[in-house]
Amino acid sequence: MYKVNCLNPIAAVGLNNLTSDYVKTDDFSEANVALVRSAAMHDLDLPDSLLAVARAGAGVNNIPLDKCAEKGIVVFNTPGANANGVKELVLAGALLACRDIVGGIEWVKANKDDENISKSVEKAKKAFAGSEILGKTMGVIGLGAIGILVANACDALGMNVIGYDPFLSDAQKSKLNSGIKTVTDLADMYKDVNFVTIHVPALPSTIGMLNKDAFDQMPDGTVILNFSRDTLVNEDDIEAALKSGKVRKYVTDFANPRVTHMDGVIVTPHLGASTAESEDNCAIMAVKEIRDFIENGNIKNSVNYPNTDLGTPAGAGRVAICAKAGSSVAEKLSAIVGDVAGMTSNTRGDWMYVLADTTAAVSEDAVKAIEAVDGVVRVRVVK
Ligand code: MLT
Repeated sequence: MYKVNCLNPIAAVGLNNLTSDYVKTDDFSEANVALVRSAAMHDLDLPDSLLAVARAGAGVNNIPLDKCAEKGIVVFNTPGANANGVKELVLAGALLACRDIVGGIEWVKANKDDENISKSVEKAKKAFAGSEILGKTMGVIGLGAIGILVANACDALGMNVIGYDPFLSDAQKSKLNSGIKTVTDLADMYKDVNFVTIHVPALPSTIGMLNKDAFDQMPDGTVILNFSRDTLVNEDDIEAALKSGKVRKYVTDFANPRVTHMDGVIVTPHLGASTAESEDNCAIMAVKEIRDFIENGNIKNSVNYPNTDLGTPAGAGRVAICAKAGSSVAEKLSAIVGDVAGMTSNTRGDWMYVLADTTAAVSEDAVKAIEAVDGVVRVRVVK
């Protein structure tokens, strides 16, 4: 029986896919699996029982990935599962930046008791007039699951689209509509944009990448859209760019005391993936990943251990090993467990994962011997 702790509410349609081998617990300290959305996990004590964490969402900056890897806790996310929800809000953000829809709605509310409102609107509306997005240029930074959808949707709405992603695979590139241009140097995007939308994870290499240097390369009056993470935008620099007119509007899904007090900013309360469909999709994908990991040892969509797939267990036993990259555990395995019917071993950054089918059941002594191999941080008998 595996104990599952939900650190945030997770859609029932996903949780319903857990079989009777899983039981929900409210106590994180006894969990084997944690399902999480935005709960901050950095200060939590990670119990020895914890085997996996699945984030029902894309961003994983609320999870201590290295600390988890060191304890042999595999962390998953659900790339693409909420991409459509985020894409739709990005489009709304672009439109809100161009048309003062909110100002107009507020005016109507404030004047709701005016008997002549149908006439007065005709005078008042000029205060809320805007511009169109057709024919304007959208720069999309990051062409992952969300960025691709945003780029194609903007293209379909008649915008010129320029995409940038230093890690763009051919498979991902082939999903872009044919009219979309990609560049390998951000300078070639910045010089032509009217809008920039960013869709990258918050990493040391991306934090603050939308800064003075970037804004200075953009035409005056550019709109910045941020539905990824607040730290990607340098807030001193965007405040200065808004004051100078270099940036016309900053649309962000991340409320904080600083941006909520800035002029020219439209802030939404992290609503990107808050749709019934996205929440359902993320929960279903997270539970599927967890079940494949717990029941078969397979890893798909981990952000701290390598993707590894050995199908369903074929031999009498299956053992899963988390280790530091470079460990010789894979080479030593058959000397410890006897005949190995099948094995796969992959490395990602500092960590490796070995999955092996054995012709005999894996004994407790064998587990102890594997644990004693240099670099091994966790051994789990899957079957
Ligand atoms: C994500 O990281 O998937 C989005 O920001 C939405 C969310 O955090 O739930």
